[in-house]
Amino acid sequence: MSTKIKTFVEYQQQYELSISNPEAFWADKADSFVWRKKWDKVLEWNFEDPNIQWFINGKLNITENCIDRHLSTKGDKTAIIWEPNNPDTPVRKLTYNELYLEVSKFANVLKNNNVKKGDRVCLYMPMVPELAIAVLACARIGAIHSVVFAGFSSNSLADRIKDSKVSLVVTSDGAYRGNKSMGIKKIVDEAIVSCPTVEKVIVYQHTNEPVHLVEGRDVWWTEEMNKVSSTCEPEIMDSEDPLFILYTSGSTGTPKGVLHTTGGYMVYVDYSFQNIFQVEDNSVYWCTADIGWITGHSYLTYAPLLAGATTIIFEGVPTFPDASRFWQVIDKHNVTHFYTAPTAIRSLMSFGLEPLENSKLDSLKVLGSVGEPINEEAWHWYHNHVGKGNCPIVDTWWQTETGGILISPLAGITPTKPSYATLPLPGVQPIIVDTDGNELLGNNVEGNLCMKFPWPSIIRTTYGDHERCRQNYFSTYKGLYFTGDGCRRDEDGYYRILGRVDDVINVSGHRMGTAEVENAINEHDDVIESAVVGYPHDIKGQGIYAFVICDNTTKNVETLRVEITNVVAKIIGPIAKPDRIQVVRGLPKTRSGKIMRRILRKVAEGDISSLGDTSTLLDPTVVDDIIKGALVPLKA
Ligand code: WTA
Repeated sequence: MSTKIKTFVEYQQQYELSISNPEAFWADKADSFVWRKKWDKVLEWNFEDPNIQWFINGKLNITENCIDRHLSTKGDKTAIIWEPNNPDTPVRKLTYNELYLEVSKFANVLKNNNVKKGDRVCLYMPMVPELAIAVLACARIGAIHSVVFAGFSSNSLADRIKDSKVSLVVTSDGAYRGNKSMGIKKIVDEAIVSCPTVEKVIVYQHTNEPVHLVEGRDVWWTEEMNKVSSTCEPEIMDSEDPLFILYTSGSTGTPKGVLHTTGGYMVYVDYSFQNIFQVEDNSVYWCTADIGWITGHSYLTYAPLLAGATTIIFEGVPTFPDASRFWQVIDKHNVTHFYTAPTAIRSLMSFGLEPLENSKLDSLKVLGSVGEPINEEAWHWYHNHVGKGNCPIVDTWWQTETGGILISPLAGITPTKPSYATLPLPGVQPIIVDTDGNELLGNNVEGNLCMKFPWPSIIRTTYGDHERCRQNYFSTYKGLYFTGDGCRRDEDGYYRILGRVDDVINVSGHRMGTAEVENAINEHDDVIESAVVGYPHDIKGQGIYAFVICDNTTKNVETLRVEITNVVAKIIGPIAKPDRIQVVRGLPKTRSGKIMRRILRKVAEGDISSLGDTSTLLDPTVVDDIIKGALVPLKA
């Protein structure tokens, strides 16, 4: 395993090296893995097509690196701890030996059900070890996994299945979430009605609720596992063979399938994990993200296993049975590294300090934050009350498209600063540009965050539509990867992420395209048109504010709101439900018909002091009416 950076000076030296000779730098990192055949060339790239290849012609299997290579030294070490939704349900632990057997067996199950290298397999499951096992089993045989968060609706699931022509779905009967149990298989059944490519469904029994099995299509996980042997030779993959697709929202249209490949992804997630979190052999690492998001892929599943660490899979929610659950679990398993989202911290802050009183939290060494900007208040609360002032906070900035963390402190090694992601990792070359694409040099600058050089886990394409990838990320500024985030570099050279500058909003750390939510709202029969913007929300970071024009003026507004909310939940999922819905008679449009979102954002923020010139609007009086009907107190 590659050596970890241990001092700030070493960080600076490594950073220099990674810029002056990136290929030698990354070849050295890649050397510590098991390759069936070494690469011929480290890197080829251009950001015009874009065409990015790392470790060209290298052959490997990522699961051999996550599991097999640890068996001689760590076979009996716990790889996965499963903490169930209900604290009274027994914990499950899997050693690396056991994980090897389960993954090999499920890989054989997939093969028995006709899955071959390159086929797409969709995983729609609760947070049980079998989800991680299924992810790894796909990788074992070279099938491309597409995990869909089990909070998405059957519509969203169907869109994702269709987009990547999935042939097999793995799911479970149901899922627990707090004091609720939800059907999962029935959502899959609804989705598959419109998905002719799906030939097989494997069902893991978890909640034991009754489900309907379709003859010839649906099979039980356990029965299939009993039919197969417990060895499965890993498929030898090219470094640039696809590993997975993960759908994420953008500023336009439907979610896109971000595609990551094998070799570069493996090298980068391992390198970043080891250096940022600084896990030791006896560490217990807990990332609270769902495997359905990129954080759950990279830093709950792949990276901790690549590092031979112990990783926790938590099925439940922070507030069940009560708001002390996180702290109880930390004590129960002696968690050393805890990685969660600012939303969770802010929500737990709102319960005061009492829920923390019965927990020692003295096993903790490192705290992490991910998914959205962490405000100073939440940062200090996390630092003082969870970390007891002793644990560095790594505020990790990255994206589904970046595959791994690009800007973050290295725990205990580089400085931290509240609400700052601080410094780029070695190999990462951020640049801040103005709206015309001019580089803003020096410190104390603010603009749009781009990358000028590829790192090994960068997005390769958007599945089935390379042009969309080019347009979205590589065309705004020539020769640069554009993140969609605003960013400030302060007087010390530290980076602070300011949030999205495009039409993407970040609700409780979940990315949502405003266009996507609008499309869902417009499905309501009475809605003529809608415009959605984000606004600052105390707990969620951003809330969803929808302005809608309806043609049924006799309907009660409250009824409309409930109906529209239900439509959005049905079409996208409960995470996309608008927090506020204002019925309006018109939207502020320019003469060419473009909605002036800036005005709507200002109203949603409650600040109408600087609406700017509205006289160029098609009908300036709609703004007055919108202001009159605003659902927030306004300051002028
Ligand atoms: C935001 C999540 C501030 C950012 C890993 C980015 C952050 C988007 C941070 C990606 C952070 C993520 N500080 N903002 N530490 N981490 N973001 O694809 O706007 O779900 O573009 O990946 O989340 O969201 P995604």
